[in-house]
Amino acid sequence: MDALEAIHGRRSIRAYQKAPLSRALIEELLWAAVQAPTPPVSGTVPWKLCMLEGAERLAAYGLRAKEYARTHQPEGEHWEWPTRPGFEVFWGAPVLVLICAQAGNAEARYDCCRAGQNLLIAAHALGVGTCWIGAPIPWLRSEGVARELGMPEGYDAEVAVVMGVAAQTPVGQPRPRPDVAWLAPSASAADTPTA
Ligand SMILES: Cc1cc2nc3c(=O)[nH]c(=O)nc-3n(C[C@H](O)[C@H](O)[C@H](O)COP(=O)(O)O)c2cc1C
Repeated sequence: MDALEAIHGRRSIRAYQKAPLSRALIEELLWAAVQAPTPPVSGTVPWKLCMLEGAERLAAYGLRAKEYARTHQPEGEHWEWPTRPGFEVFWGAPVLVLICAQAGNAEARYDCCRAGQNLLIAAHALGVGTCWIGAPIPWLRSEGVARELGMPEGYDAEVAVVMGVAAQTPVGQPRPRPDVAWLAPSASAADTPTA
C-alpha cells in the first residue's frame, strides 16, 4: 500500500479481535511513529512511548477512565460520553500505545501528535487497525495513575492510540475538499526590485 492509499483508507476502528499483536510488528510501528519531524532531530527527545497489552486489562482500565470522566467533568462543560450506552474507552483492543510528552517542553505535545499520526498511517499500511482516543487522557493524568501504571516520571500522557486486528471496519465519512486560498504575489511586492 502506498502512502496516499494508507492516508485515505485509514478509519478509526472500534471493534477488535482479542488476538495480541506480535512485539516485532509493534516495534516496527513505533519505529515508524518516531520518524515524525521534530525541531530539530538533534534536540532532546520530546517523548517516551509506553505500551500496555491485554484486552481484558485494558477493558478494566477503560471502566475506571470512564468513571473518572463521569465524576470529573470539566468546568462549564458536560461530557455525555461517560454515560453513553455502548461507549467503550479502549474498544476491546489488545494494545494501547501512550505517547507521553516531556514535561516543561512546550513543543513536545505537538511532536507527540505528529508521531501519533505517523503511527495510525503506518499501522493501516501494515493491516493493523487503530483508534486515536482522547477519552482516557484525563484519567491517565489524574493523581497516582501514572505511578500505578509505571509510566516514566517527567512525562505526561499526550496521545493514546489503541491497536489490534480489526473485527469490523466502518465506512469512512468523506471529507470535504479543503477551502484553499491561493495567495498571489501582491502588485506592490511583485514590483519591488530585488537588487
Ligand atoms: C484528539 C482525538 C481524540 C479522539 N478521541 C476519541 C475517543 O475517545 N474515542 C473514540 O472512539 N474516537 C476518538 N477519536 C477518533 C475520532 O472520533 C475519529 O478520528 C473521527 O470521528 C474521524 O473518523 P476516522 O478516524 O474514521 O476518519 C479521537 C480523535 C482525535 C483526533
